[in-house]
Amino acid sequence: MKRATFSWLGRDVPFLEGESIASALDAAGLVSFGPGMVAGDTRYFCGIGACQGCLVRVNGVVREACLAPASAQSLVEPLDHDAGGKPLHTFPHPVAGGTRD
Ligand code: FES
Repeated sequence: MKRATFSWLGRDVPFLEGESIASALDAAGLVSFGPGMVAGDTRYFCGIGACQGCLVRVNGVVREACLAPASAQSLVEPLDHDAGGKPLHTFPHPVAGGTRD
């Protein structure tokens, strides 16, 4: 199998050909994929596209990381960050009623 890397906030994340982005992030020790849009952090959970818990931005498009194949051309980011690690916007915080930034 061919090995390559994709970019996650400036960090090269290794993956094997055919591996999903979520699997590669998890294997790299990244348990949290960043703040979610509703509550808590996004993360690898169901692995079949059902829970929407693993949403990330792939080349600017929101995708389920567990379904998106890893690609050497991919720029993968948390939902609320750009490639430089800067927040794009804030989401309402479900508990505090404010924003998390
Ligand atoms: S882990 Fe559930 S949709 Fe990706």
